[in-house]
Amino acid sequence: MESKLNHVQTKQWDQLFVQGNLITLDAGVDAGWGLIPQGALAVSDGRIQWLGSMSSLPEIDPSVDIIDLEGRLVSPGIVDCHTHLVFGGSRAAEWQQRLEGTSYRQIAEQGGGILSTVRATRSASQDALYRAAAARLRTLLRAGVTTVEIKSGYGLDLETELKMLRVIRSLGETSPVDVHATFLGAHALPDEFAGRPDDYLDLVCNEMMPAAKDLATAVDIFAESIAFDLPQTERVLQAAVDLGFPIKIHAEQLSHMGSAKLAAEMGAVSADHLEYLQRPGVEAMARHQTVATLLPGAYYFLGETERPPVEALREMGVPIALGSDMNPGSSPLMNPLLVANMGCTLFGLTPLESIRGVTLNAARALGIDDQVGSLETGKRADVAVWDLDSPEELAYLIGHQPCTAVYISGRPVVNEPLDGPPDS
Ligand code: NIG
Ligand code: FE
Repeated sequence: MESKLNHVQTKQWDQLFVQGNLITLDAGVDAGWGLIPQGALAVSDGRIQWLGSMSSLPEIDPSVDIIDLEGRLVSPGIVDCHTHLVFGGSRAAEWQQRLEGTSYRQIAEQGGGILSTVRATRSASQDALYRAAAARLRTLLRAGVTTVEIKSGYGLDLETELKMLRVIRSLGETSPVDVHATFLGAHALPDEFAGRPDDYLDLVCNEMMPAAKDLATAVDIFAESIAFDLPQTERVLQAAVDLGFPIKIHAEQLSHMGSAKLAAEMGAVSADHLEYLQRPGVEAMARHQTVATLLPGAYYFLGETERPPVEALREMGVPIALGSDMNPGSSPLMNPLLVANMGCTLFGLTPLESIRGVTLNAARALGIDDQVGSLETGKRADVAVWDLDSPEELAYLIGHQPCTAVYISGRPVVNEPLDGPPDS
């Protein structure tokens, strides 16, 4: 009876991954790595149907496509939940200015910073923006990223914001990576609206945001003294909520404003950066289970010294995600394991917290943790394979690229042959 049941099950599987050391990050199993040493994982229709140890594997039907993982470490695909990877130009010259002592804030106040990328993005063709972004996305994919969020916000006019969102849509159509677009029209005040922020926000709320409805799945805002203040932030987030968008926020990055608390109370799915977050913000985020998306790349690249309040977030049970914040000004970073390493070395996260931060909690920051972010039955078979011995090593090695294969919905999208001994 039992073997017949097993036989029926195996026949339904399209693929069977065998002999992997699985890191499931399945919160239902334990609060740890959810390790299954010498594990197997079965896939049908792009979804995980079964996973467990090799010793409990049901009888295998010969028609199943078997993928031998040869004892390698296997994790959920990485989710990069905060990027600005579509942009024109470069800010290398500005970076050199910063190295010589000019601050990020001073550069922004002199009309550089975000606005310099806005000029370059407005003048770039849709095709040029697409090609540059596609190369960045390929780098992320080869490093194990299977889901990415990409923000607009370097257009700041209707035409260019929509151009960016169309580029993001094209990336999703042409790349195997699952791409999620976020509308960030309220990223900075464009030159032509200098001194008239409320007029610009009329445009954002009444024209751009409705026009972005078919192209973006969330709305974000940069709440900061060099961007938008608290009442302006509330207005934009309320307009987004009224249109049915999930909301996100760049909050408390350079100074404390109370914007994370406001956003949490308005139901934000995540509040991001948070270096200057204070206790009432942490409490509101805990109450509303707003994900704290920490961005150590920006902290590092801007030479920030104020650390996000990790201990308070942890103590209050706020879910912590990590993102690359890939962008030309504050975080030109395209290496998710380095993000995880920085989460540990700069912010004091444990390796497990960091890896959960770039998988399950990053999925939560996008509202898709029922679909991806952990290896569990029913979830999409997004899998990264690593030439590593232990899970901690994911966050430990700096600059190495140990990802040997990536599967999205069970389909192989990266397959690097392992370096063997030289042919004799
Ligand atoms: O997340 N903080 C605002 N936005 C980006 C930086 C954008 C830029 O400098 O181009 C960030 O750090
Ligand atoms: Fe950002």
